[in-house]
Amino acid sequence: MAVGTQSIFTQRIDRIEVSATMAVVAEAEKMRAAGADLVDFGAGEPHFQTPQHIKDAAIAAIQAGFTKYTAVAGTAELRDAIVNRHAQDFGSSYMREEAIASTGGKHALFNAIQVLVDHGDEVIIPVPYWVSFKDIVRYAGGLPVLVETDERRAFQITAEMVERVIGPRTKAIILNSPCNPSGAVMSPQDMTAIVKLAHSRGIYVVADECYVYLDYTGRRFSVGSILEAKEHLVVIGSLSKTYAMTGWRMGYALGPAKIVAAMQKLQSQSTSNPTSIVQKAAVAALNGPQDCVREMGEDYVKLRDRIVHGLREIPHVHCTLPQGAFYAYPNVSAYIRKDGMKSASEMASRLLREAHVVVVPGEAFGTSDHLRLSYAASMKDIDRGLERMKKFFGSA
Ligand SMILES: Cc1ncc(COP(=O)(O)O)c(C=O)c1O
Repeated sequence: MAVGTQSIFTQRIDRIEVSATMAVVAEAEKMRAAGADLVDFGAGEPHFQTPQHIKDAAIAAIQAGFTKYTAVAGTAELRDAIVNRHAQDFGSSYMREEAIASTGGKHALFNAIQVLVDHGDEVIIPVPYWVSFKDIVRYAGGLPVLVETDERRAFQITAEMVERVIGPRTKAIILNSPCNPSGAVMSPQDMTAIVKLAHSRGIYVVADECYVYLDYTGRRFSVGSILEAKEHLVVIGSLSKTYAMTGWRMGYALGPAKIVAAMQKLQSQSTSNPTSIVQKAAVAALNGPQDCVREMGEDYVKLRDRIVHGLREIPHVHCTLPQGAFYAYPNVSAYIRKDGMKSASEMASRLLREAHVVVVPGEAFGTSDHLRLSYAASMKDIDRGLERMKKFFGSA
């Protein structure tokens, strides 16, 4: 290439995009700054405050001067707390060297993919998918292989569906149950079948279990409990949603010691340890009383029921009942077609401009007929938002 026409940027940074949810957030921010009264179903985070005993642990850590570097993978106390909580809640069996604390679940996922996926490796990702999966895979040089799911079957993914797309270059499968954006929860049987299939073919399962505690089916399950497949399993966890700690940035991975050691090597050359103070807060969260998790979960179920009921009252809107996480994913294709709109993105823009309701268009997650609404909001806001949407679609 001639001098002067060369790109400033590396190929790897040009392979990825800014998170697609950001566009709506940026437009909403502008309107809010101009004084608009928005109902925000866009944010992917709990509306609850971090529980007081967790905040207190962080404050105590500062007062005690626990403000220095720690071991890259986190303190022994924290790694043990991660391992013990997971073992107690899901029947997994990990040792301290098989756990690493990172700066959020996204960071743990990023590290796991960077150490497992090489140029030309294929990674199977079910659709709809969380925005970051394909970009993280692409950044590593991998090729996302998307598997469509059927909304009429509640976006379920089975071992047969996965098997059809396995090829000689398949390196990993990313599972995300409960799913952001659909709220779908995989059955333990389907998850086990996929994990066993992957294990038998030498393929890694990276299970993003950031919403595992927000599972309303009553049969909370982690792939970490499938002990015979441990060699090919990486579990990604997060304190963000479980304990309403999104801003604290604390997540973790559980996996074979050699994979965790490679992730630790990568982390040692980038962020080093997660914030020392946050580590103390995380120990308090994981070892402390878990009532807060149950209480928040009970509230999410009430909020879910209200929003899904309201959405289903809008003629021609179909909404699968989400079984976990805190998102509703209604199908609004009837309105997109009726109004000659090209996409859910156009619909989301109109909803924002005309009804002052913030939602994220399905394109961010690989489908073009849906909108994602986060119901991590007050009941009052859910009612206000539904009212506005009913009016908007009624006149659409
Ligand atoms: C599916 C999924 N995975 C991972 C994350 C990352 O969470 P965090 O980095 O805050 O732990 C999110 C956050 O929205 C998510 O929805």
